[in-house]
Amino acid sequence: MTDNEARLMSAVLEYEEGHRRRTEHILAVYALSQLLGFRHSLPEDQKRLLSAAAILHDIAIKTCKEKYGDACLENQKRELPRLIRRFMEKAGYRGDCIAPVTYLALNHHGYDSRGGIIMDILMQADLTVNALEEGKGDIPCPGIFESSGQWLLDICRKAGGK
Ligand SMILES: [Fe+2]
Repeated sequence: MTDNEARLMSAVLEYEEGHRRRTEHILAVYALSQLLGFRHSLPEDQKRLLSAAAILHDIAIKTCKEKYGDACLENQKRELPRLIRRFMEKAGYRGDCIAPVTYLALNHHGYDSRGGIIMDILMQADLTVNALEEGKGDIPCPGIFESSGQWLLDICRKAGGK
């Protein structure tokens, strides 16, 4: 974990105030993203973007629930850019990192989007954690899983939610 990541993770965990599901989700997606990033031998600059996106990808949920009473994707997309900029600037990220992380967060549910390997890893980590949380065997878009992601998903689904 880099210094910026540690600052970012600390700020996000404080922001979530121990909300159990969201806190566990952030930690799990971050961890699985790191693992898949390692297995793909991502270069350092891509690892940093992936890690920041993993920490921030659902950051708008809390604000949307409070502001609109609804954290639908449309509302999240409205709030994400501002929140991501605020958290990343405060954690000390370079300005040119903000746009790619915002793009990743905005599009990680668009399973047909072509965001490259970082987007693929973020989507696979998020879907795998969702499958673990929900204890379900089915995932919405199995086609996006490549060999490392499939290996991880299979492990995480082995117990079938038990
Ligand atoms: Fe997520």
